[in-house]
Parts: sequence; C-alpha cells; structure tokens
Amino acid sequence: MMNIESIMQDLLEKRKQSGTYRSLKILDSKAHDFTSNDYLGLAKIDFLSGEDHSFIDNGAGGSRLLSGNKAYHVEAEAFMADYFNAKSCLLFNSGYVANLGLLSSVPQKGDAILMDELSHICIKEGARLSRASHFNFRHNDVSDLEKKLNTVNANNIFIVVESIYSMDGDEALLANIVELAKKYNANVIVDEAHSTGLLSNDGSGLCCQLGIEKEVFARVYTFGKAMGAHGAVVAGSEILKSYLINYSRQFIYTTSLPYHSIQIIIKAINYRKLNSELWKSLQDKIEKFRNQLNEEINLLESNHPIQGVITGSSENAIRLANFLQEKGFDIRPIVSPTVPLHQERVRICLHAFNTDESIDELCRQLNQYYS
Ligand SMILES: Cc1ncc(COP(=O)(O)O)c(C=O)c1O
Repeated sequence: MMNIESIMQDLLEKRKQSGTYRSLKILDSKAHDFTSNDYLGLAKIDFLSGEDHSFIDNGAGGSRLLSGNKAYHVEAEAFMADYFNAKSCLLFNSGYVANLGLLSSVPQKGDAILMDELSHICIKEGARLSRASHFNFRHNDVSDLEKKLNTVNANNIFIVVESIYSMDGDEALLANIVELAKKYNANVIVDEAHSTGLLSNDGSGLCCQLGIEKEVFARVYTFGKAMGAHGAVVAGSEILKSYLINYSRQFIYTTSLPYHSIQIIIKAINYRKLNSELWKSLQDKIEKFRNQLNEEINLLESNHPIQGVITGSSENAIRLANFLQEKGFDIRPIVSPTVPLHQERVRICLHAFNTDESIDELCRQLNQYYS
C-alpha cells in the first residue's frame, strides 16, 4: 500500500503534467496591480492611524456563544444592518464560511437549492453540506432557471446567485430572478461578495441599488474585496439570524473576529459612504480599458472591474499571464478546475488607483500579444 506522502506526491505530479499545479507567488511589489480584489484601494488606507488605541484585546478570546461576544461585535452588526437596510446582520469570519454556514444549515431535507452554474465554490460546497437536494441552472439564464423551477419537487426552494460573478465579472439578472422567485414562491439568496463597496451610491451593493432588499431572503456581504478588509455578514430577518446562531456550525464553533478587524470594516464602510466618486472613477477606467482592446481579443462581457480574457487552455493562460508579468503587470492566469475546461483565462481586475498610463500600456501589450 502506498503511504500518504507518495499518494500526495503523485497527485501533485498529475497537476504539474496537466498544467494546473498551484503555487504561492509574491510578485514584485512594484508591479502594477491588476489582480487584487482591492478595487477601490481601501486596503492601503491606514484607517487606524491617529486613532485612540486604548487597548481592547488582540483577539476575542472565544466563539460568540462563549467569551467571544463583545460589545464591538453587537454594535458592528447593528451598524451593518443599518448600512445594508436589513432587519439583522450576523458576522462571519470570511465570505467563504458565511456561505458555508448559511447554505449548509438553512435548507432542510426535502428542500432544493438551485444555483447558478458559475457559483463560487463556497456556495457549491455549502449546498453539498446541506441536507437539501441541489441543482445548477445555466449561467444567468432565467429561462433555464424557470425550467428547473417547473420540474423541481421540493418543500422550500432556494435560488442562489452572485451579484457580480467572481470569474466572469457579469451581473446577475437579479430583478428578473426576484420576479421569478415570487412566481414560484422561492427564496432568493444573493452573494454580494464582488458588489459590496462598489454598487449603489454608498457601496451597499446590488440589492440596495435595485431596492429589492425586502424581496431577498438572505444576502451575503464580504469585506475582503472592495472594502479592502476581511470578514463577512449574512443579512436577513431576525429569525434567520437567531437560526444561524443556533444551527450554523461555521458560526458556532470558531473564534470570533478581533476588535481591529471590526474597526477596519466600519472605517472602510464610513470612508466608502463619503467617497462615492471612487466608484465613478473606476467605472471610467473600466470603459477606458474595454474601449482600447482590439476585436480579436476574446474579452468577456462585463462592465464591472473583473475582466476576463479567454485563452481557451491553461497553457495559453499561463503564457499570456507570464508575458504580462514580464512587462511589469501583476496579472494571474485562471485555469481549470477554477473555471470550466476551455474557459481558461487571464483575469484582469481594474482598480480606482490604476493610472491611465498603466491601463494604456496594458492594452497596448495585450493588443500586441494578439496581433
Ligand atoms: C462570489 C464569492 N463569494 C465568496 C467568496 C469568499 O469570500 P472571502 O474571501 O471573504 O472568504 C469569494 C472569494 O473569492 C467570492 O468570489
């Protein structure tokens, strides 16, 4: 029998041979950032300098149900419920565990989860952990969703979508989906990971921008992307919050977020509220980028910061990313299984802080590569 080290070694070899081996890289800090999710540059603002730092604690010291429930958690949740126009918010340590916690615990046996096929892995994994049955519908395809709603036999149905899809950068057809959910008496869950801090005038996301907060069963907001921080909340009813406190293992059995993390999230939200021009300037950069690329480039449709150049194979994605990295751009390839086979790509993230010159140069290099 092979020992576990040899088994792991073999599996790693397989990844190397298929060109999908992952390794951790620190790129040159001088490289132009076209890869991070820090869309507005908030991660680089020192929100806590000049503040009174009377010592609170380094860590919360336990899970929320034991010693780790502090006034700063409770106050932050009230502040966020107000910001996201929700009855309640419950903090989770990251967006990944918020989705796991919500989807693994709320849908019951006999229920069904219908997920967009391009949902983030934490949504898929949350659905797998739940006792409900789960199905994909075609990406952003409302008629396919309706077909599935017609055929599914379940007590309660949950439709799960992302406001902005993490790899394709396109926006969910949320208004249509909410209408359909009403028709079929289904519950909508929206992962707002990539719209938190971006969409709507104050950055409170897509549901708030569309004014459909009350028609959505639950919303997941994450703070590790445009808010430049860390952590997440699930927003919804008071009953949902109490249910998660009682039944979500990902909430119950983990040390809660420390004081500093909470402070940074609150400062980032307040900063974003006062600086709506950041999103406007990012929109200009997105337009500038898209307008300059030649037609031969297979650019996905997206008017959000996530821009995908489809290369069709892992090798091509890695080659293009290496080419751009050598030119001084921090740009990464995204290969299967993160994206479907033949949908491999370089994922370019635009930021409010990317200069016009660096966007022009990036477009020049991309056009040259494809000429
Ligand atoms: C759509 C989506 N949901 C959830 C997450 C996880 O969020 P976090 O990074 O806060 O764990 C991500 C992260 O990439 C994401 O893209």
